[in-house]
Amino acid sequence: MGAGIVQVAAQKGYAVTMVDLDESSLERGKGIINSSLKRVAKKQFKDDEQKQSEFIKSTLSSIKTSTDLSKSAESADLIVEAIVENLQKKQKLFSSLDKIAPKDSIFASNTSSLPIIEIAKATDRTDKFAGLHFFNPVPQMKLVEVVKTESTSDETHHALMEFSKKLDKTPVTCKDTPGFIVNRLLVPYLLEAIRLVERGVATPGDVDTAMKLGAGMPMGPFELSDFVGLDTLKSIADGWREGGQVDSNLVVKIKTLDDLVRAGNLGRKTGKGFFSY
Ligand code: CAA
Repeated sequence: MGAGIVQVAAQKGYAVTMVDLDESSLERGKGIINSSLKRVAKKQFKDDEQKQSEFIKSTLSSIKTSTDLSKSAESADLIVEAIVENLQKKQKLFSSLDKIAPKDSIFASNTSSLPIIEIAKATDRTDKFAGLHFFNPVPQMKLVEVVKTESTSDETHHALMEFSKKLDKTPVTCKDTPGFIVNRLLVPYLLEAIRLVERGVATPGDVDTAMKLGAGMPMGPFELSDFVGLDTLKSIADGWREGGQVDSNLVVKIKTLDDLVRAGNLGRKTGKGFFSY
């Protein structure tokens, strides 16, 4: 998702630095951006190949890549984090960033399941800290959830709402609660779809067809779970259940999901999940 966020900001002319742990991760990010940009360019400039390549060139010229966190953060106005969903790792990252970044720069996390305030507490700028939650695929999905904790200032909230609009996204404001709006509704729905198949009601393929044609969803719940990543889905459900933040009946342990994750079948990214790719 980090690559997608970098891309949409660069498309609007923001000077962006994509920071990752090593060169191979950066290469993967660049690959995601390159192929997505080609789709966006084709859509925006239809048959005009010259305009398409100008758009791609100018977007790429706004993107720097780096493995040097300190150097990249020292003059950043906004830092959006999209690392692994692990509270300690996020706290450690933001605690370091707090010492490096300018005092007035805004920090935001793209976490989909962790409490923003717990991450923010690792810094001395909880007023300049909020959630900025994008959706996959970032260049296509129009929504951003701007998550305001009890410490987020109105100024920070306003700046992030405006930033989201400048990216041509529609922001919504949400309190710092498990899953915010979309995942709080989506995750129990995806889990219930798996339980429905476990009960032998229908096949994954028929459930997907039913939800696409009967409820107008662009993807059925199994295709969407594979798209989101079964490890991500499981880790959100496990976290909510173990943390007791969400009614445990909505996030009970599901054998099929646990087995798939244990076998390394995590969905699209591994080539196999509920379906093969
Ligand atoms: N970059 C840029 N554009 C992309 C893209 C990408 N990576 N992927 C798809 N698109 C665009 C295409 O260019 C196309 O645009 P137009 O319709 O304007 O021409 C459009 O998306 C549809 O693409 P396709 O025709 O290739 O494929 P599709 O019709 O099957 O749509 C999809 C693909 C957009 C992913 C669609 O299936 C969809 O909306 N699925 C649901 C996605 C969803 O629910 N995402 C949220 C997941 S939850 C989450 O992200 C939160 C979390 O924390 C877990």
